[in-house]
Amino acid sequence: MSTIDNLKDRTTPVFSPDDVTVIFVLGGPGAGKGTQCARLVERYGFAHLSAGDLLRAEQARPDSEFGGLIREYIRDGRIVPMEVTIALLEAAMREVLEAAAAAAPRGIFLIDGFPRKLDQARKFEEAVVPARFALFYDCPEPELERRLLRRGQTSGREDDNADSIRKRFRTFADTSMPVVDYYAAQGRVLHVDATAAPDAVFDATRDGLAERLGQDALDAALAAAAAAEGREQARE
Ligand code: C5P
Ligand code: MG
Repeated sequence: MSTIDNLKDRTTPVFSPDDVTVIFVLGGPGAGKGTQCARLVERYGFAHLSAGDLLRAEQARPDSEFGGLIREYIRDGRIVPMEVTIALLEAAMREVLEAAAAAAPRGIFLIDGFPRKLDQARKFEEAVVPARFALFYDCPEPELERRLLRRGQTSGREDDNADSIRKRFRTFADTSMPVVDYYAAQGRVLHVDATAAPDAVFDATRDGLAERLGQDALDAALAAAAAAEGREQARE
């Protein structure tokens, strides 16, 4: 991953916010970030990049030089050094933009589970692209724990067990909440109560996005996604 070396010294963003709109999706483990992102992708055609999924994929890649390190960090619920995660995100964004260049020049990215630490937040905005705002799914810990233990029965994730869950909560409170507070202090947080069932949370998300992005932008995304879906179906 050559990006890692050049990331350290880079002080100007590689992408312009005129070309890409980045929305950070934050919230404790089990808050429903992935669930809501999947629904947003389906409806609006946004690109969805999950930092956790990218890290797990890198961990599983046989010749990855970071596989062992990532595995350890994830099991302990700690935050993987930012250079690794940012390099993975940047490469994934590039891939999406190249694939979509003809179809959708203005990409809207949901970056899920990132930034989880202040240094990641600062470096990403300095070296990759400034984000529009952070979408924060707020949910109390006992409910998060119930969800994660339930998910653990089928997820196959090494960190959906009681011990790792406790550590992840700790990291979230100590390390990741300060990121939410940092953006809140700048008026850059869209706060959504994530305690309710997915349908209700989705409605609240949609209303919040309409306010933040503008109803017109959201309608345009919806129309473009519907048209793309129509083209898909015509081809089948
Ligand atoms: O978001 P998700 O729950 O899939 O993340 C799983 C784990 O991946 C986290 O507990 C953490 O160890 C690692 N991670 C990270 N930095 C991020 C996102 C995830 O270190 N920005
Ligand atoms: Mg997730």
